[in-house]
Amino acid sequence: MSDRKKLTLGTLFKKKNDGVPITMLTCYDYPTACFQDDAGIDMVLVGDSLGMTMLGYDSTLPVTMADMIRHAQAVRRGNPKSWLIGDMPYMTYQPSVEDAIRNAGRFMAEAATDAIKLEGGREMADRIVGIVAAGIPVMGHLGLTPQSASALGGFRVQGKGAMQAKKIYDDAQALIDAGVFAILLEMVPDRVCKLITEMAGQDCIIISLGSGPDADGQLLIYHDMFGLYPKFKPRMAKVYGDAGKVILDGLKSYADEVMDGAFPQPENWFGMADSEYDELVKLLGKK
Ligand code: KIV
Repeated sequence: MSDRKKLTLGTLFKKKNDGVPITMLTCYDYPTACFQDDAGIDMVLVGDSLGMTMLGYDSTLPVTMADMIRHAQAVRRGNPKSWLIGDMPYMTYQPSVEDAIRNAGRFMAEAATDAIKLEGGREMADRIVGIVAAGIPVMGHLGLTPQSASALGGFRVQGKGAMQAKKIYDDAQALIDAGVFAILLEMVPDRVCKLITEMAGQDCIIISLGSGPDADGQLLIYHDMFGLYPKFKPRMAKVYGDAGKVILDGLKSYADEVMDGAFPQPENWFGMADSEYDELVKLLGKK
């Protein structure tokens, strides 16, 4: 466990206001959480992308609150210091303000998250107002919002046309007015992201996922960074190490070594004292 101090909203806004970029990654499990704490990552998102990266669904839609809480608890145990954000899964906040507050509260109470994230624009303003009034910091999510991928025409860049970009800009303004502390802009053009970051001023932290450098911080999906999601690699993801290949090569070597007897070797097993063995043989009535 790292010896850095627990991040707070104050630390994050100080970084923003000092022009120090904020780092953010997704995380879904205990060992990765330990690594991310050691690496000093500022914000960690337990994303509902875990439905695809960890549970093998084709989309994020089947993910439940129970799934999210279980993974968020594991991440919090591994990383007590980062600013931890729980991602509200599909249909846990869309139906009503009351549902939104109740489920946001579950993240805070059961997984010790610092904040929650939800997708959507001005239509979500009343949910955000309600959750913030309950004392829970909220991150908004605009641009490509995976829970609405079907309505958005698939996993594609959002806001390339002026009219659509204006809608994203207006939605960002509505989220800021509703009280979000941060907005994630996923796959919007870099210049739209820059305009929104300028508009947000000191009031709101803007994080970019594939939306260019002119934001307060950057987010990557952990599995994309390390080649751990074999089905798909988004164009904007940078691969920092091919852990997927390392693991696959290791698995093949293990299978080969078991087959040809190279594994196990004496350091891979445990023995017993000759005297104890002789006694055992006697007890068993063997010679
Ligand atoms: O669930 C998730 O990981 C997300 C990212 C796509 C930002 O919402």
